[in-house]
Amino acid sequence: MDYEEPQFFRVMQYAARADRDVVDMVSGNPDWDPPEGLRDGLRDYAEADAGDYQYPPSVGLAGLRDAIAARRGVDRNRVLVTNGAGEANHLAMTGGLHYFDGTEVLLTDPVYPYYAGRANFLGADRSFVPVAEDNRLRPADVRAAASEETAVIVVNSPNNPTGAVYDADAMAEFAAIAEENEALLVSDEVYDHFDFSGRFASALDADSPNVVATNSFSKTMAITGFRVGYAVFPPEDGPTGELLERARTQHMLTNVTGSRPAQYAVLRALKTTPPDYYAACRRRLERRVDAFCDALAEAGAAYNRPEGGFYVLARFPDFPGTFENVYELIDEAGVAGMPGEAFGESRSDWIRFALVTPRVDEAAARLAAYFE
Ligand SMILES: Cc1ncc(COP(=O)(O)O)c(C=O)c1O
Repeated sequence: MDYEEPQFFRVMQYAARADRDVVDMVSGNPDWDPPEGLRDGLRDYAEADAGDYQYPPSVGLAGLRDAIAARRGVDRNRVLVTNGAGEANHLAMTGGLHYFDGTEVLLTDPVYPYYAGRANFLGADRSFVPVAEDNRLRPADVRAAASEETAVIVVNSPNNPTGAVYDADAMAEFAAIAEENEALLVSDEVYDHFDFSGRFASALDADSPNVVATNSFSKTMAITGFRVGYAVFPPEDGPTGELLERARTQHMLTNVTGSRPAQYAVLRALKTTPPDYYAACRRRLERRVDAFCDALAEAGAAYNRPEGGFYVLARFPDFPGTFENVYELIDEAGVAGMPGEAFGESRSDWIRFALVTPRVDEAAARLAAYFE
């Protein structure tokens, strides 16, 4: 698979055209409300002075960068506000490929397809490290695959699509492997607020000059349409300081800057949202995970119970995760998932279901009836 065109829209369009009611479990768009402070911020913004309708600093609003820096325990200077984690990942990957000698991006199998598509788009060589049966990414496997050809290693925890959470030891190892091979570890942590395991560790804890952590408010605050994310780069006065400088320039030349009202509203929400909001979102997802996994078990399907994130991978007897089978489930069962083959070879027998719908029970009942 060349991953050049991510396939999510293909499946969503098929589901939208279906001649029946379909439970959409394809996309990663949260179905719950953003924090109230976010709506307050937006409402206030409508009355802001004309000056506030103009370009914000290219690197992001100072207050927002301060809030992010405080949360991540880093200097504000290292924080670059981006148009979602998508742009943050792009800046980090292209930066690593430019800065380090190698030409290879090391990815996992299964992989979030945008990483693989981006590596392709950037003309990089790609290498895939299969995750273990239990969905963990073994540092020894990453070490064996990394070489002087490697410029970038991309990890994602909590993981899309496996639901695995990598602990502090694994993260420290990934950072060490990047250092040993003169490569950049890009750690995409967009699902960090949805850790059910309590084991989540940021790659920033490794305190390595070879780490960029990326994140966003898309999932954390249920605002995928706002496009506010960020990257934390290594310190500018350290050995890899050039990465930050170049990312800032690329961000400015591509976007000029990000959206000021969106950043303002996110900052308001960061200041006013109680921990309860995040805990309630996590609990809602956990309840859905329990209900969906129990129903899958009854339907005789194999499944992974995610340690974090939004997704459950399921495997039905004699029903591999192909596009054809996913289309059949849309037409015959009225449930839309993503084919495992869209994420690589290692989970091509599986289908990924996103639990961002209140209709999880109904979807599970439909699947159980179909596979009865
Ligand atoms: C692992 C991962 N990274 C990044 C993104 C995109 O995040 P953003 O909306 O912040 O660009 C997604 C969206 O589904 C994702 O699953």
